[in-house]
Amino acid sequence: MGAVATTTIAGVFLARRGLGKPVGSLTQLGTIRLGKRTEGRNPKINELVPLANLEDIEFGGWDVFPDNALEAARRARVLETEHLDAVADELKAVAPMKAAFYPEYVKRLSGTHVKEAPSKYEMVEQLRADIRRFKQERNVDRVVAVWCGSTETFLQQTPVHQTIASFEEGLRKSDPNINNTLLYVWACLKEGVPFANGAPNLGVDIPAVHELARETNTPIAGRDFKTGQTLMKTVIAPGLKARLLGLNGWYSTNILGNRDGEVLDDPANFKTKENSKLGVLDSILEPAKHPGLYDDYFHKVRIDYYPPRGDAKEGWDNIDLFGWMGYPMQIKIDFLCRDSILAAPIVLDLALFMDLAKRAGFRGIQEWLGFYFKAPMAAEGLQVEHDLFVQQSKLKNTLRWMVGEELITHLGNEYYD
Ligand SMILES: NC(=O)c1ccc[n+]([C@@H]2O[C@H](COP(=O)([O-])OP(=O)(O)OC[C@H]3O[C@@H](n4cnc5c(N)ncnc54)[C@H](O)[C@@H]3O)[C@@H](O)[C@H]2O)c1
Repeated sequence: MGAVATTTIAGVFLARRGLGKPVGSLTQLGTIRLGKRTEGRNPKINELVPLANLEDIEFGGWDVFPDNALEAARRARVLETEHLDAVADELKAVAPMKAAFYPEYVKRLSGTHVKEAPSKYEMVEQLRADIRRFKQERNVDRVVAVWCGSTETFLQQTPVHQTIASFEEGLRKSDPNINNTLLYVWACLKEGVPFANGAPNLGVDIPAVHELARETNTPIAGRDFKTGQTLMKTVIAPGLKARLLGLNGWYSTNILGNRDGEVLDDPANFKTKENSKLGVLDSILEPAKHPGLYDDYFHKVRIDYYPPRGDAKEGWDNIDLFGWMGYPMQIKIDFLCRDSILAAPIVLDLALFMDLAKRAGFRGIQEWLGFYFKAPMAAEGLQVEHDLFVQQSKLKNTLRWMVGEELITHLGNEYYD
């Protein structure tokens, strides 16, 4: 019931009444070219593949605070009162279930609306019961989970994360290497519920989860929504690389004043975010393949909590690049964005595409949804793809492939025979 979740929920309610546009959502507004350019076939994505309709969606969630979605959205101060008032009754009806919350992973929060259990294993069992109850009470056929909870402290993989057996043993012993996110992941996968991780937290990336996802035929995706600054990075960096312009340094800083900013003000939580933000450039620029251009640049990322800004984040980038004969140049980006406004369409798309993936028989890592993440996932040993436009082609080709349409290679030599 944080800023991102409530902005998504309210937006879907508004969109289905025609009171607002789901801007930024591929599933609602995107089109897809099919066949040759001369054929003129460009259906909407939601006409090509059978996605759930907005009218059929029910929302549920957990939070460490008892506020319903209306109260939480008012507190988050992302959407204006006139928007919230228009769907107030529907928002009020979305009340959070009690959270599985061990506070050591998010020290800046002290919630009261939390479950109690003798072990983490029992905690997972309670979450599973919540999911089953939700399904029954709302009379829904299928469930999908998108993590919109806080960023947790940085955790590394340990032996407990390696197999289903070691993980379940760890749950019984309430192993400290199992964070809150992993409790939800485990509960969802056990129930066959696809799980997308919108935060940088250790969650769907561990071998035990991959094993369980395969065993239960459940799709997983992550991690950390690609929204403001990283979105810009994955647009600009591939452009510089395509023209082989060199890079001396990339300095990125953000100010934001929402609760996410407050949580990230704790160095242990920031470290989780920093790791997810730093990986992007190296993976796009491939320093080892480009000595002299990209093997000696300085990359710095900062986030500063600045309460007056609320959700209206400002992300600055200073890029020191060089061109022909090594002559230096600079690019400055000042993105006056809105965190949750950029994240909401991603949450909706992930929910609909993960549901589609499950029905299509996909399981495990959904690499084609890497388009939506700062730290996308790939099979063990495979280099991950960060370039937004390669990710977009992959996503669209996966949709074409799903319905037996020809894949598009952009070769196009047949037009010149
Ligand atoms: N908005 C963006 O642009 C963006 C981009 C990438 C990632 N994210 C991530 O998305 C997440 C949500 O962002 P936000 O701005 O909505 O933050 P927020 O602080 O407004 O919301 C997070 C919510 O999670 C709840 N929570 C924390 N631990 C929980 C638990 N164990 N169980 C249930 N609820 C729990 C908190 O009480 C809070 O209500 C954050 O992790 C953020 O880093 C956001």
